Amino acid sequence: MIEKHVSIRYYEAGRLDQLPQDEQDLVKHAREMTDNAYAPYSAFYVGAAILMENGEIVKGSNQENGAYPSGLCAERVAAFAASASHPGISMKKIAICARSNRLEVKEPVSPCGACRQVLLEYENLQEEPLKILMASDNGKVIVIERIDDLLPLSFSGNGLKRVK
Ligand code: THU
Repeated sequence: MIEKHVSIRYYEAGRLDQLPQDEQDLVKHAREMTDNAYAPYSAFYVGAAILMENGEIVKGSNQENGAYPSGLCAERVAAFAASASHPGISMKKIAICARSNRLEVKEPVSPCGACRQVLLEYENLQEEPLKILMASDNGKVIVIERIDDLLPLSFSGNGLKRVK
């Protein structure tokens, strides 16, 4: 057997103003979207904002449901809305923010595995990186150049496509 390694590169900013203006704006949109979260069960309010290649910003927030698994994360709400309303337009960047009135949210929120899988499919489809900005309330932001970095050895639906 051969030992192999996967490493990822990411960037950390201590303050929001260390990011370029368009990214600061995107984080602000994501933060505003936490107000639209419907999260009566977790009290964890997440907002996401996607910058499309045509300059539009598509937003989402987490939507929970009394039948717990029926709810959806902010990232997928935003990504599905982006693909549904702008098919064929690339997603350039996604910003994610969270806050809670019950818990202290010190660290930037990182997309869950299911959201990574969904975002990766769109990244692969558009053949261009989708940059991720994970922001916390205290100004810290983690930046990752592409979703692929967040899901090494990922499953791809390509094998499911018919050859003819
Ligand atoms: N949640 C998101 O919306 N995005 C994440 O990246 C992590 C978790 C939501 C799902 C659920 O409504 C609540 O946060 C608690 O897990």
